[in-house]
Amino acid sequence: MQTTEATEVKVEAKLIPIYIMGQKYEVPETLTIMKAMEYSGFKFIRGCGCRGGICGACGTVYRLPGDYHIRVGLACQTVVVPDMYLTQIPFYPANRAVYDMETALPELAEVQKKYPELFRCVACNACTKVCPMDVPVLDYVSAIKQGDFKKAMELSFDCIQCGLCATRCMAEMAQYHIAQMVRRLYGAKLAPQPKHAAEMVEQIKNGKYTDMLADLKSKELDELKKLYTERESEPHMSPEDWKPQDTSCL
Ligand code: FES
Repeated sequence: MQTTEATEVKVEAKLIPIYIMGQKYEVPETLTIMKAMEYSGFKFIRGCGCRGGICGACGTVYRLPGDYHIRVGLACQTVVVPDMYLTQIPFYPANRAVYDMETALPELAEVQKKYPELFRCVACNACTKVCPMDVPVLDYVSAIKQGDFKKAMELSFDCIQCGLCATRCMAEMAQYHIAQMVRRLYGAKLAPQPKHAAEMVEQIKNGKYTDMLADLKSKELDELKKLYTERESEPHMSPEDWKPQDTSCL
């Protein structure tokens, strides 16, 4: 993050004071933290990605006067409130194991080997309380410890990898990386494989799409853009047996 000249914004909303890294700024009360920071002259070169609450790059912690609670939010989603003291935690160092998905076994012992700190969890639940996506972090950690990968996958599915859970963990875990390993193992080795996907993989291996891809690769960018924008899209709420008019690629 850098500071630059404040962006000119036509302000009609009431201005309220907020404190960014200890410095006071007056910002329109309708802005998100991210926009309020930009309004105050900060320029995001890190700690900002999708701006839509999906990428997890903009984790922010703040406190309100007279309140001991540490509050958290995504800067791109959380609207400013008067007198909030905030700072961003766009990156937090976390243990991230290296493993080979070809050989890794979908078993608790495999996860424990890579993340032995898993069993240091004392179930304090600080991770769940800090999660801006309301993911039940402790619950999925408990499911992993019980070897229930399916439950852990389902409970952790909404995680956006912001890493705020790791900032609060007294067991020094990076819960989100552990859950990611479990989801990968479950998806690759335990989940029932959809028949149509297996058929498609077989067709790709047998070269069904080789000429088509070579043809696409040979085209100029403008031609590719035209093909893309003019392609036939599946209509919203189409019947299950919907097919495009041109079935040559199916
Ligand atoms: S910028 Fe992606 S979640 Fe906020």
